Amino acid sequence: MQETLKQLEIEAIAKVEAASSLKEVNDIRVQYLGKKGPITEVLRGMGKLSAEERPKMGALANEVREQIASAIAEKNEQLEAEEVKKKLASQTIDVTLPASPIKIGARHPLTIVVEDIEDLFIGMGYTVEEGPEVETDYYNFEALNLPKEHPARDMQDSFYITEDTLMRTQTSPVQARTLEKYKGQGPVKIICPGKVYRRDSDDATHSHQFMQIEGLVVDHNISMSDLKGTLETVARKMFGEDREIRLRPSFFPFTEPSVEVDVSCFKCGGKGCSVCKGTGWIEILGAGMVHPNVLRMSGFDPETYQGFAFGMGVERIAMLKYGIDDIRHFYTNDIRFTKQFKQD
Ligand code: PHE
Repeated sequence: MQETLKQLEIEAIAKVEAASSLKEVNDIRVQYLGKKGPITEVLRGMGKLSAEERPKMGALANEVREQIASAIAEKNEQLEAEEVKKKLASQTIDVTLPASPIKIGARHPLTIVVEDIEDLFIGMGYTVEEGPEVETDYYNFEALNLPKEHPARDMQDSFYITEDTLMRTQTSPVQARTLEKYKGQGPVKIICPGKVYRRDSDDATHSHQFMQIEGLVVDHNISMSDLKGTLETVARKMFGEDREIRLRPSFFPFTEPSVEVDVSCFKCGGKGCSVCKGTGWIEILGAGMVHPNVLRMSGFDPETYQGFAFGMGVERIAMLKYGIDDIRHFYTNDIRFTKQFKQD
């Protein structure tokens, strides 16, 4: 028995030494030290031995097992180290190699305008709201004082999806949605940038999809002069510090009175040129005092609350600001166009 054990030790260690992979070593471990291996077998047969021989044999078996185990551990370590070395050799990185240049994109001009205006309004304490682009007839029209069959609905040719849902034609439905959310309790100070859709034939100045930024303030003692001051700030931020604005009477069903807002021409300063078509003024947005019906329908008491609202076309502002002559440039995704707006 002693002989068998010694023999096993020599045999196993020789095999371990000859092994060339971690898997092979593991197989040897299972073969010799495993539950079904020969050493376990020997230990099992110890019952037949005499009482003096038993502890001696037990000690020897343990020693043989330890010898084999330590040979395995040593071999494993060696093989692992070799593997790491091989990996390092095959995966060397030449750190002196110049990197391929990273192409950095540019923000889209519409994003630039929206973010500039958002920054301005957030600085004045407004929050930014959003609303769905697929809108109900109720929020897009009815809650804005445009009942069914109202002739002013024709001002905005719409894409209807069902009888009651459509692609929103304006960002104004967010006014109604926001007012409802505030449950008759001011102050409300929000802007809402977003996409809108109208049935229009696309050309240099028309697009069936475009962007608007809506603004809404509802509080006690809000007057037209608050609106004017606010819009003056916007005009100066977008078109230069010495811009003036002027309000012309207009009509929107959800504001009363309603105005169209012009900014003094940033190109000629008001003398008249091709940008302002000789008038010295450029129309930039629609606005007005929130109609009492709109306040009432959305849960605000028009006796105690007043508000102003405005809506501007983002493309129009961007076209004026950057001298872009065709609205379709915004949507054709030509990077030669967007690259020109790289800022930093
Ligand atoms: N929603 C109007 C439009 O699309 C603009 C507007 C907004 C006018 C808010 C007044 C107040 O033409």
